[in-house]
Amino acid sequence: MKTPEQLAQDVSKRRTFAIISHPDAGKTTITEQMLLFGGVVREAGTVKAKKSGTFAKSDWMEIEKKRGISVTSSVMQFDYQGKRINILDTPGHEDFSEDTYRTLMAVDSAVMVIDGAKGIEPQTKKLFKICKMRGIPIFTFINKFDRDAREPLDLLAELEDVLKIETYPMNWPIGMGRGLQGLYDRFNHRVVLAHPTDAAHQYVPLDDEGQIPADQPLRDDSIWQDTLDEIELLEAAGNDFDEEKIKTGDMTSVFFGSALTNFGVQTFLETYLKYAPAPSEHETLDDQTIKPLNPEFSGFVFKIQANMNPNHRDRIAFVRICSGEFDRGMDVTLQRTGKSIRLSNSTQFMADTREVVDTAVAGDIIGLYDTGNFQIGDSIYSGKQDIQFQKLPQFTPELFVHVAAKNVMKQKSFHKGIDQLVQEGAVQLYQNYTTGDYILGAVGQLQFEVFQFRMQNEYNSEVVMEPLGHKIARWIDPEQLDEKMASSRNILVKDRQGQPLFLFENRFAENWFKGKYPEIRLTAKL
Ligand code: G4P
Repeated sequence: MKTPEQLAQDVSKRRTFAIISHPDAGKTTITEQMLLFGGVVREAGTVKAKKSGTFAKSDWMEIEKKRGISVTSSVMQFDYQGKRINILDTPGHEDFSEDTYRTLMAVDSAVMVIDGAKGIEPQTKKLFKICKMRGIPIFTFINKFDRDAREPLDLLAELEDVLKIETYPMNWPIGMGRGLQGLYDRFNHRVVLAHPTDAAHQYVPLDDEGQIPADQPLRDDSIWQDTLDEIELLEAAGNDFDEEKIKTGDMTSVFFGSALTNFGVQTFLETYLKYAPAPSEHETLDDQTIKPLNPEFSGFVFKIQANMNPNHRDRIAFVRICSGEFDRGMDVTLQRTGKSIRLSNSTQFMADTREVVDTAVAGDIIGLYDTGNFQIGDSIYSGKQDIQFQKLPQFTPELFVHVAAKNVMKQKSFHKGIDQLVQEGAVQLYQNYTTGDYILGAVGQLQFEVFQFRMQNEYNSEVVMEPLGHKIARWIDPEQLDEKMASSRNILVKDRQGQPLFLFENRFAENWFKGKYPEIRLTAKL
């Protein structure tokens, strides 16, 4: 057991964040550069080669083959400049946004990577909203400045207008594309040269006026003058650096650079580490605040992943530690059941390996090998205080299919597979109220395809799916339910908790229902 001082010291070093971006903005590339600085991978391309790809449908089988590795990288830990950094990966494809949203509940800050030529894209916007809602600090890296990009001022304006967040550029590109000469580092008061004569002279300090020394060739370049003009504009008309606003997520510090050529990434990481928050407090359902330095261990499960390694049919529950210290072999209470569980089989993740973890502290993510005890959103704790952390956001599914085992003799593996994948949160499961038939719900079509593929591959269960199309899911108070309310325009089903809901064909069908049963209260979410 650590002393309170040791615990405080260890926790204060933790920096736990996720990178959010639209697919292809460069999340994988920048992650990899960071891991290189952390000495976790030795060569560029290590993560890239294992990357799960752009998730086109046809890619899935390939992805699945590489699964053991690609998913291992869903949490990456490394040490840099005295800090212990946990990066949580977030699936880029929008069909998996539910997974991503839950992951964002487990971090203390976020890095938003934006493609400099494209600006803010739909997925970035969605993920940003979640971070904003949580009030966590967001740091922006505008990528791909080794190529022609949009005007930096334009990009800043877009951030402010579309995302409604104040910006403070920490550095400023000197040119772009082939003409990229460097970065004007406002924060460190220096220029980072893109083409230094040798690596030792990459950083050039600026004088008190913000001017580059006269012996630098850049000084006479017109691009330098343009940069100075823009910096002057920023100083006069831009926002002031406000640490408080950065902390609350009302201001984002913006960095320009190029992940691919590893330009600006190191400065970004170092500056980021100065301002990124240490592990934050967490609220419980009954409005208590659990502080990271609370001596008792507590945490919540934000992700469950089965069969990460096809060679061992394992299932891992990812836990964000919210307070105290984890020690392998400790006993905790699983809040949902009140049962005591011994945590003896735990793992932590590096870029390409998994290691048994003996101790971890608030801010860390651990993986617990699970034999079916855990569900997404579960809270666990040691000590006497009953702790249930706030619920994780749940999406209301919009797409539905009927699902059944192709071979009726294979019901056992069918049920086992469905059970596991539903617990993982891969899809939602419903049952027809009268016939008991299985219905799956998802946010995106790809989730069904992944489900079908995994059922076959991991559970040897071939499934048939019959699309029911888009539906509007509305829960109804069981007390008010009369089974006769089901009609040809809706399907009455129950969810996993046995709660009844209607799947309406469309808005019209829902309104018709409301007109017919004005006293019935329908809700979009449980
Ligand atoms: P993602 O994880 O956000 O989806 O993006 P990823 O890092 O995979 O990057 C998407 C594409 O953009 C990759 O090219 C990558 O090489 C490129 N890229 C990333 N950062 C930069 C950058 O700073 N400058 C430039 N010019 N390109 C960048 P690809 O052709 O799709 O993949 P690959 O064939 O290079 O692996």
